[in-house]
Amino acid sequence: MHLKIEYNKSLKNYNTFGIDVIASEFIQINSEDELIEVISINKNRKLFILSGGSNMLLTKNLDCLVIHIAIKGISIHQQPNGTILVTANAGENWHDFVQFCIKNDYGGLENLSLIPGYVGSAPIQNIGAYGIELKDTFVTCQAVHISTGEKKTFSNTECNFGYRNSIFKNELKGKYIITQVTFKLTTEKHTLNTSYGAIENALTENNITTPTIKEISEAVIKIRRSKLPDPLEIGNSGSFFKNPVINLYDFEQLQKSYQNIPFYKVNENTIKIPAGWLIEQCNYKGKRWGDAGVHNKQALVLVNHNNASGQEILEVSKKIQESVFKKFNIHLETEVNII
Ligand code: EPU
Repeated sequence: MHLKIEYNKSLKNYNTFGIDVIASEFIQINSEDELIEVISINKNRKLFILSGGSNMLLTKNLDCLVIHIAIKGISIHQQPNGTILVTANAGENWHDFVQFCIKNDYGGLENLSLIPGYVGSAPIQNIGAYGIELKDTFVTCQAVHISTGEKKTFSNTECNFGYRNSIFKNELKGKYIITQVTFKLTTEKHTLNTSYGAIENALTENNITTPTIKEISEAVIKIRRSKLPDPLEIGNSGSFFKNPVINLYDFEQLQKSYQNIPFYKVNENTIKIPAGWLIEQCNYKGKRWGDAGVHNKQALVLVNHNNASGQEILEVSKKIQESVFKKFNIHLETEVNII
């Protein structure tokens, strides 16, 4: 097996924020066997696992071995009753994988079109958009234990999925590397999820009453393109903060001062508020300090206009957290991992 280590490598093209930090050592992994070999050789070293780099803000150089998971491949396993199991390796680009499913008429992932990143990191934060989360179709994932090199398969329940959350962000943080993910999708009678307002509007605009999964995907792509910056044009990591969840009493107090506050009911006693709205109320939408700023169409997205450092973006995020806390008494938790 020939594994090539690169020294002092810029990670600018490996993170969607486009932050230029240096990895002292960098290695690209193309198979699970290579991964197991590399971690066994580097047992006592500090490692940093890099997937699609779409949910992180790099604020400093990485003085360690960066392992870039680029394991490619998709396989399918026929199932009875109009379903199919589709397994994608961790290094597959998420959106390309979703498009592969749509092309083959495998239903279930269409609402998750155009989310940046790789398949392997999708379960870590249980990616979600437009009424669907990864956990809705996730069956299992295979992962390698970083210190022992042992393989383990995790079921849906074992992953303990929550809103942008899973066991891999909690008890097992930094302990496993996901190498492949299996989804259960439909091959007929797809369950369509079009109730999200913006999807409904996009379909109605095109006079579509009984959409195909391809049409839903196209609607999602159109909505995302209209609000979210393309990382290839403007560096960003999607939503920088999570939407805060507050109790009903606090929400009702807020509503007295802000009658138009948008919200989603989570359950009887809890309400989720769009962080983008809170940030916009604090007048940050479209603001810019040097090359670090807030997107002008979606205040929840922080952007690198060109050469901002991770620290500069981090400062903007802190300013936002302070202002939102001062005005609303709500703490915004970051969704993006700060490194
Ligand atoms: N809003 C504003 N101003 C803004 C942005 C949003 O007032 O600048 C308000 C609007 O009222 C809007 C509401 O917030 O109706 C919700 O906005 P949007 O539909 O854009 O969704 P979101 O709650 O801001 C979440 C996810 C996104 C996901 C969309 C669609 C989180 C942290 N973000 O955003 O996920 O694409 O819903 O489902 O839950 C991501 O995780 O990176 C991401 C982009």
